[in-house]
Amino acid sequence: MILFLFCISLFSLPCYSSAKRNDRPIIGILAQEVYLPKPNQTAYIAASYVKFLESAGARVVPVMINQTSEDYIKLFNSINGILYPGGSASIISSGYQRAAKIFYELAIEANKRRDYFPVWGTCLGFEQLTYLTCGEMVLSHTDTKNVSLPLNFTDEIKDSRMFKGFPAELMKDLASEPLTENSHQWSLALSTYNTNEELKMFYRALSTNTDGRIEFVSTVEAYDYPFYGTQWHPEKNAFEWTRPYFPHSPSAVKTTFYMADFFVSEARKNFHRFESEEGESKALIYNYSPVYTGHESGFEQTYFF
Ligand SMILES: *[C@@H]1O[C@H](CO)[C@@H](O)[C@H](O)[C@H]1NC(C)=O
Ligand SMILES: *[C@@H]1O[C@H](CO)[C@@H](O)[C@H](O)[C@H]1NC(C)=O
Ligand SMILES: *[C@@H]1O[C@H](CO)[C@@H](O)[C@H](O)[C@H]1NC(C)=O
Ligand SMILES: *[C@@H]1O[C@H](CO)[C@@H](O)[C@H](O)[C@H]1NC(C)=O
Repeated sequence: MILFLFCISLFSLPCYSSAKRNDRPIIGILAQEVYLPKPNQTAYIAASYVKFLESAGARVVPVMINQTSEDYIKLFNSINGILYPGGSASIISSGYQRAAKIFYELAIEANKRRDYFPVWGTCLGFEQLTYLTCGEMVLSHTDTKNVSLPLNFTDEIKDSRMFKGFPAELMKDLASEPLTENSHQWSLALSTYNTNEELKMFYRALSTNTDGRIEFVSTVEAYDYPFYGTQWHPEKNAFEWTRPYFPHSPSAVKTTFYMADFFVSEARKNFHRFESEEGESKALIYNYSPVYTGHESGFEQTYFF
């Protein structure tokens, strides 16, 4: 008991968390417009993104679209990172884009003052990051709607933060087996990346893929910011079953976990928190129930808002 009190008073942080690491990370997942909205179903988050982050020890807060900038600033100061999921919202003009832009700019400013705030984009989220970074729609049309591929790692992989903790065996499998699922029509062509100053200076390209015609960048991490993007879907391997080309081998499932573990470990470096416990519990995804949608969509379960 005495030791317990001593610990509290000395660090004014609870005993369960190391002073330099946040062991209660909360990550925001951005919602987006439902393509054919119904009453009470105007925005959604696929549940696989929630499971992805939860599997590595984070709790999730949905980031609703159409909120005020003040609401977003308040939320930014309460969470430890944000994930922009895949989907089909517009990356140029949508509620998804508007929120993504606000959080992107807040994250740039925060990281500049050494407030470490990680941002992750998957598929559409990755495409959104390219638009936010260079201010232009620079993507090319590719035939990559429904295919799992091995990653073609670039030489930059040796300096990568993202893959540093991956077991050597898994890296070998990622490079030789189709473990990364692609569900996109737009891609960042390698030739575009190589000639776009803003993108090339900002992001390290870690892997590429091709549709047989256009070679595109499939994994990036920013050089100077904890910003990450995958054109492919790490969350699907463990949590989505609706398509025959979603990979589920042991290495495929490990890929899901190691990617999640990496991003959550980045969020553990941030110390934002909700002003009150009540505010925190009200914001958590636990307030919502996912709906079974596997019979009508590519997602087994979906949160609707
Ligand atoms: C929408 O949600 C409100 C509040 O939860 C509920 O009262 C209403 O019945 C719902 N409408 C439909 C069409 O489900
Ligand atoms: C967000 O705002 C747009 C534009 O006003 C509107 O069309 C859309 O229905 C809103 N969506 C949600 C989920 O509030
Ligand atoms: C993938 O898409 C192609 C072209 O869009 C289609 O012909 C093919 O049947 C699809 N394959 C699967 C497994 O869905
Ligand atoms: C991998 O990338 C390199 C460099 O861009 C390229 O020359 C090679 O053809 C790619 N290999 C595959 C299998 O796509």
